[in-house]
Amino acid sequence: MTKRISLTQYLVEQQREHGHIPAQLRLLIEVVARACKRIAISVNKGALGEVLGTAGSENVQGEVQKKLDIISNEVLIEANVWGGHLAAMASEEMDTIHVVPDRYPQGEFLLLFDPLDGSSNIDVNVSIGTIFSVLRKVNNQRGVSEEDFLQPGKQQAAAGYCVYGPQTTLVLTVGRGVAVFTLDREQGSFVLTAENIQVPEDTKEFAINMSNQRHWDAPVTRYINECLAGKEGPRGKDFNMRWVASMVADVHRILTRGGVFLYPWDKREPDKPGKLRLMYEANPMAYLIEQAGGQATNGHQRIMDMVPTKLHERVSVMLGSKNEVQRVTDYHRESAS
Ligand code: AHG
Repeated sequence: MTKRISLTQYLVEQQREHGHIPAQLRLLIEVVARACKRIAISVNKGALGEVLGTAGSENVQGEVQKKLDIISNEVLIEANVWGGHLAAMASEEMDTIHVVPDRYPQGEFLLLFDPLDGSSNIDVNVSIGTIFSVLRKVNNQRGVSEEDFLQPGKQQAAAGYCVYGPQTTLVLTVGRGVAVFTLDREQGSFVLTAENIQVPEDTKEFAINMSNQRHWDAPVTRYINECLAGKEGPRGKDFNMRWVASMVADVHRILTRGGVFLYPWDKREPDKPGKLRLMYEANPMAYLIEQAGGQATNGHQRIMDMVPTKLHERVSVMLGSKNEVQRVTDYHRESAS
């Protein structure tokens, strides 16, 4: 029988070997994984658990909240608030940060999450997920504010996501490659199923919401038109298109078999840099993709170099197979010069 390595064993062994997962970070990752198991149970129940549909409220960005958005947010907060590993949390679903109350010890980490990514897919039984990012609290004073969270993605101590699909899969980086864990439902534990995964440098698959085509700017239009031109076009090969409309599922496919994901700035709301959130979606995904040998930019610069100016900052996102991301980034540079 193949030896099964649990998430706990993986973290302990990684720490022993490389010393990069201190006790509080290990606890944090295990608690997030446990919360994801609880969210997976609610997702699986669907209509039977009365968790489908909208909650009748909006988040700080004016988006309609689904019942499962709120449930997942509460599960993550409840699970993480008392362990002593965190100073505060921030979520796509909350207006401002949630500071660990004084009755609990304050930890050295900050946790950010999109509790349930792909909300439009909840009611139609298509893969959705939880995305998380971990930062260190750099300021040593007691007390924590939003400013403590405004760190560039390259300072992340860990990042990951959990996809609730045909399988429940946790994907994690602590800065030494990307590991994949699959939930064993009988045992109730995440088991290591792939390690050091690599995104192929080239691909023939792209992911973009094509219905926004008329709103894109020139470099994105050029890149996608060349893909669509296939064998007869300048790329000399046929491309395939996939769009799940859950970033977790699209990124998971790219981590598994390569591809490029784009959610670019568009002309519908010119003042908005993009749809996706820098701190809850783009940074953690960029960290995973880079750790797997891929690349992530906003068309102009590396996503993880961007210094956020506010918690709910949005960003244009291009990530995945290195050579494709480089190409579309070059097209932006050429069009600017
Ligand atoms: P949300 O965080 O509201 O669930 O948004 C989902 C995101 C992302 O997961 C996905 O790639 C994208 O929005 C889909 O956008 P479209 O609806 O424009 O396709």
